[in-house]
This record gives sequence, structure tokens and C-alpha cells, in this order.
Amino acid sequence: MLYETVKMINHSLNFAGSDLNALAEKYGCPLYIMDENTIRRNCRAYREALKACPCPDSSAVYASKACSFGEIYKIIAEEGLGADVVSPGEIYTAYKAGFPMENAYFQGNNKTDGDIAFAIEHGVGYFVCDNFEELDALDKIAGKYGIRQKILLRVTPGIDPHTYDKVATGKVDSKFGIAIETGQALEAAKIALSKPNLELLGFHCHVGSMVFDSDVFKSASAVMLGFIAEVKNTCGFEAKILDLGGGYGVKYYEGQGDIDIPANIRELTEHIASLCKDLGISVPSLRLEPGRSIVADAGVTLYEVGSVKKITGYKNYVSVDGGMTDNPRYALYGSKYTVLCANKETGSDTITADLVGRCCESGDIIQPGCVFPSDIGRGDRVAVLTTGAYNYSMASNYNRIPRPATVMIKDGADRLVVKRESLDDLIQNDVM
Ligand code: LLP
Repeated sequence: MLYETVKMINHSLNFAGSDLNALAEKYGCPLYIMDENTIRRNCRAYREALKACPCPDSSAVYASKACSFGEIYKIIAEEGLGADVVSPGEIYTAYKAGFPMENAYFQGNNKTDGDIAFAIEHGVGYFVCDNFEELDALDKIAGKYGIRQKILLRVTPGIDPHTYDKVATGKVDSKFGIAIETGQALEAAKIALSKPNLELLGFHCHVGSMVFDSDVFKSASAVMLGFIAEVKNTCGFEAKILDLGGGYGVKYYEGQGDIDIPANIRELTEHIASLCKDLGISVPSLRLEPGRSIVADAGVTLYEVGSVKKITGYKNYVSVDGGMTDNPRYALYGSKYTVLCANKETGSDTITADLVGRCCESGDIIQPGCVFPSDIGRGDRVAVLTTGAYNYSMASNYNRIPRPATVMIKDGADRLVVKRESLDDLIQNDVM
């Protein structure tokens, strides 16, 4: 199995001490299941590695775009992580969950004046400013509220993380941040320092997602520290915080590369400390913003099979009661997953089939080329592993399909944390 938390017990798939078929009986399918212990273990790995590192007062900030609902923010707060929020929706969810908003970091390349005011009213601790217009708007609005807003400035270090293009964000031509290479980032730093209602604390970058190569963060930190030294030398301002964003990869399937995150953080921070010495700058406090690596392996999605279509001489399809509405990642990025039949052992007698959803389009593929027991049929269940990140948060109501429920499990006990959407939920905003 991909993880030791997943095992077959008496022909029934068990995840982190809970029987998935029993959960399907209780809550119905499709169903997102998340393991609280795994989320907490992942948080702790970051927290402890950052606590022990040579960068003072460093901490992890959970990128809540990976999975955002009330209970997640409570767990994250208890584990002492900050939260990266990107919209009034995420801010509101965190706030309502009682998240300490002084540990929230508001990101995004287009914060409206309304968003800015909303974030200030809800006590968001830090703004990660993305562009010149935002610096002006935030300074004005902070002034109206009579506050001096703490900010980081998002810059692009020009690093290509060699992951897939749609999630690469640190390149010079990215829509996010301000380029160091063109001199515009230095100009923005000067402007930020001149604003009476902004308190510049440091710099932020995010190079991309699914990074397994440990040199990516080292290269990004070298460019960022060089920039920090340049700002110090030209403006006399020394950054207190260096935020390197998120992006550590997660193992989705057997045979895929893996990364030891605590070891990587150790190596990275020693590299940072030594570069700072060479550059004659103080070692900044580090922020990392993991999203995927906090929640991905804590999640499993469970579906019920409706039909098995064997097109003689061509291919086979196993259709389930969910699809690209609850997991659009294969349709969008061609993402690979580990797929298992949840109520039958997969022995030597197998069929290979595409696991597809119920949406009215051929691109509605959850995963092609899956291996199932040859007698898989209507009423059987299928589990897709590692769906805790960017599944619920990217789910849609395409074809007016309600989003699934989410159940949190912990030491064999289960509780509903997100209700299944009802048909009435779907029409609640229709004026008719
Ligand atoms: N910080 C910033 C500024 C980000 O933009 C992101 C992700 C993260 C942190 C967290 O990155 P992570 O540790 O999760 O890789 N929907 C795509 C992923 C998009 C990531 C966008 N930004 C997917 O399903 O793979």
C-alpha cells in the first residue's frame, strides 16, 4: 500500500483505523474522509523542523487554499501554524472558526478595496502585497482605519521549479509578485518603505507546487537573500522575515519520488544561515507555507460504482457517483492517483479500466488505467487515496451535482465536519 495508514482488513479497506465501508454505510457516497492525526503529524513535522532551525522565530503558515473549512482552521490553530488566506471566503471561514487572525497572511494578486477593508476589519495580521496598486490602496485604506498594516512584499526570484506549468509561480513572467530581475521589486520596496501606514517586514516568494528537488528552495533562497542584501545596501532596510512560500511535493502513487521535508528544512536553513553570513545580513525569520503536504495524504475519497462498461476490443470504464466535480485534478493537470477497490481484494484476476465520473462530458476522468478485481460491479466501492488537498477546495457544482460531505476520523472515531450539499442548497440563490 502507498501508506501504512491504508490496509485491507477482512476484505474491507481501512484508513487510519476506520473502516471505509462502514463510513460509506453511515454517511453515503461520494464521501471525503480526512484523518486528523495525519494532519497534526504533518503540522508537527514542519513546526519541529522550523523550531530547531538556525533562522530565529521561524514558523509554518498553512496554505488554506489546499483545503478550507472551519474544522481545519481549528486544528491548524491548535498546532500553532499560521494560515495563508486568499479571499474574503477563506478569511471569513477562518475567522468564524475562531482562528487567531493575527497569524493570518492575506495573499493574492488582485485584492479589491472591499477585500482589503474586509481583511483589516477581521484583524488579518499580514498582507502579502503583490503589486504597486495594492501598496497604494492598502496604505490608503489602512490610514482610514487608523492602523499601520504589517506587510511582506511578494517578489519573483526567477526560479523555474520544473513542475507543471500551471502551478509554477516564481518565474519572472508570472502573474504573481514583482520581478527582482527587472529592478521593479527594488522600486516596490522603496515605495512600501515610504508609505506611512505600511510596515514592511520582509519579502515573500512562491516558486511552485509539487517540488521534490531540494535545490529549488535553496536556489530561491539565494536569490531572495541577495535581494534582501541589495535592499539593505540601497535603502538601509533589513528584512526581518523571509517567506519562501509553499510547494513541497507529496507522494500520490507507488514509484513516485518522495522528499524528507524535515531533512530538507534542515539543509535549507543551514544554507540560508551560511549565505547570510557571506552577504553580511542578519539571518531572517523564515516562513514556509505548506498546503498540499499538510492535508493531501490525510484525505481519501470514497465512491460507489454504478456501471462497468466493457467495450469489447477497446477499453473498460468504471463509472462512479462523483467525478471531476469533487476531484478536477486529472481533468485539469493529468494528476496521477492511487485507486483501490474498497470492498474486494484485488488479486490476480483483474480488469484495467478508466475510473470516470457521472458528469456529462468525456473529460470527466478521475484516473485512467486503474486495476480492479475483474468482477467489480454496481454497488462496489472505490477509494482514491491522497485527495485531502485541492479536491474539496476545488470542487464545483457542475451539472448541478452537490458537493460531498467530509468526515473527520481520529483514532477510529468519526465526525461530520462538512455536511453533504442538498438539492435545496443548490437552488438557494436562484431567484424564481
Ligand atoms: N503559498 C502560495 C503563495 C501559493 O500560491 C501556494 C499554492 C501555496 C503556498 C501552497 O502550495 P502547496 O504547498 O500546496 O504546493 N490546484 C493545484 C495547486 C495550486 C497551488 C497554488 N498555490 C493542484 O491541485 O495541484
